[in-house]
Amino acid sequence: MSRLAAAAPITVRMKGAPAGRPAAGDAQAAHGERSDHSEHGEHGEHGEHSEHGEPAVSHEPGPARLLADLPVPGEWRSLARHRSTYRTPPPASARPNRRLIELVGRAGLRGRGGAGFPTVRKLEAVAGGREHRVVVANATEGEPASAKDRLLVTRMPHLVLDGALLAAHAVGAEEIVVCLERTGREAARALHRALAERAGREALVCSVRIALTPPRYVAGEETALVHWLNGGPAKPTVAPPRPFERGVDRRPTLVQNVETLAHLSQIAAFGADWFRRAGTAEEPGTTLFTVSGATRPMVLEAEIGARGRDVLAAAGALPAGRLQAVLVGGYFGTWMAAGDLEGSLLSRGALSHLGASPGAGVLVTLPASGCGLLETARILRWYAGESARQCGPCTFGLPALAEVTSALAAGRARSDDVARLQRWAGDVEGRGACRHPDGAVRLLRSALSVFASDVAAHMSGRPCAGSKQPAFPVPAPSKEWR
Ligand SMILES: Cc1cc2nc3c(=O)[nH]c(=O)nc-3n(C[C@H](O)[C@H](O)[C@H](O)COP(=O)(O)O)c2cc1C
Ligand code: SF4
Repeated sequence: MSRLAAAAPITVRMKGAPAGRPAAGDAQAAHGERSDHSEHGEHGEHGEHSEHGEPAVSHEPGPARLLADLPVPGEWRSLARHRSTYRTPPPASARPNRRLIELVGRAGLRGRGGAGFPTVRKLEAVAGGREHRVVVANATEGEPASAKDRLLVTRMPHLVLDGALLAAHAVGAEEIVVCLERTGREAARALHRALAERAGREALVCSVRIALTPPRYVAGEETALVHWLNGGPAKPTVAPPRPFERGVDRRPTLVQNVETLAHLSQIAAFGADWFRRAGTAEEPGTTLFTVSGATRPMVLEAEIGARGRDVLAAAGALPAGRLQAVLVGGYFGTWMAAGDLEGSLLSRGALSHLGASPGAGVLVTLPASGCGLLETARILRWYAGESARQCGPCTFGLPALAEVTSALAAGRARSDDVARLQRWAGDVEGRGACRHPDGAVRLLRSALSVFASDVAAHMSGRPCAGSKQPAFPVPAPSKEWR
């Protein structure tokens, strides 16, 4: 865990003019102060270039909100540029700000970390707890096919930091911890740089520290994150108490995804009505999607409820026929036939009828030449490797599911293997302390359904040519838990 170290402020050259945004609305009432435009127009040196091969970025199908005025690759939005649109968040105090919480409620903001939980309910729960509350900004992004949180933190760090400061102001927290996977060195540098810029120009209204988490998938689960921040391994704990009751240092803790916090910044600046102008009534706003697989990885912004076809087209993943299926929601998600996804609206409400969810906005495309069973077996092996090995069904069930699915993909399955997979899936589901094994089961079941004709071919010893050639990379699990 690294404490924030102040460094000389770095100014950066920014491209593009601010997009036409509405004047600050009801949010200003919540703060009782006006935006500071005094630093407008400051530009400096070049930014640094990505060391990790940043994904492509698109405003399409839009509207561009979080990604409006996104600096060109290798550059980031400076504090001066950021303050030309967003005013300084008010100082932290032990007293929650009910007006800000109410504003978030009116906006209808839901979490962008995967579960889509209404943010206002979390704010209320933490604000209702005892004093000395903590805000954890979750930028761990353990989902291998997601890149949007890293993009936001690296290129728009002040939008994320303002969101965390506003969340702290809303719940009456005096400490913020921004959690990043320790492999994301560039994102950590961007945050340090952003905090150093603030240290030189405006009073830091709350204690902020950066914590670098072990690169494990379940480390991003909120109880695992809190457990690790309290000195334990980054493994989920059996709830209750939930973090909002007893979290970091046993204090009420708000854990919020960094994209959620970036939206919070925009709601505070532009108001609830503006936020609701995009998206659906139940799921307002835009969201970031990471599209990868058959095409170059791309992060793009779309309204919640945008048509799947439009999002895939904006990512260059169409024309139709090029894709066989899409893993919707990422490794923690569900396979859908490409045609079904193209015709669907990408919202939690619309996809739930099809047994799927956009999760953290991840779409992994499988080319027509790929083998869905091979990819599923590979991801199940990853799931088994990422188990925290605390719960029997997860520890022993996931490797068994991965092994039999691998045999199926290779055309070596026994006649009763599909029935065994279905039975074991039922044995594992809902039996872990966290939802990690449930993700594996959902993935497997969707594969057996979407690739049913492939299952039949593989069972008869005729696996497709694609089963020899992986279509996209699957990472090897790390061994670190601390
Ligand atoms: C296995 C597992 C892994 C998770 N990984 C992440 C993650 O990498 N980033 C994240 O923001 N939330 C992750 N979550 C969700 C968090 O537990 C938590 O709900 C989220 O950070 C809350 O933020 P939100 O309400 O703003 O979405 C994960 C959940 C599970 C079950
Ligand atoms: S279900 Fe698996 S990943 Fe979750 S706590 Fe139990 S062993 Fe760990």
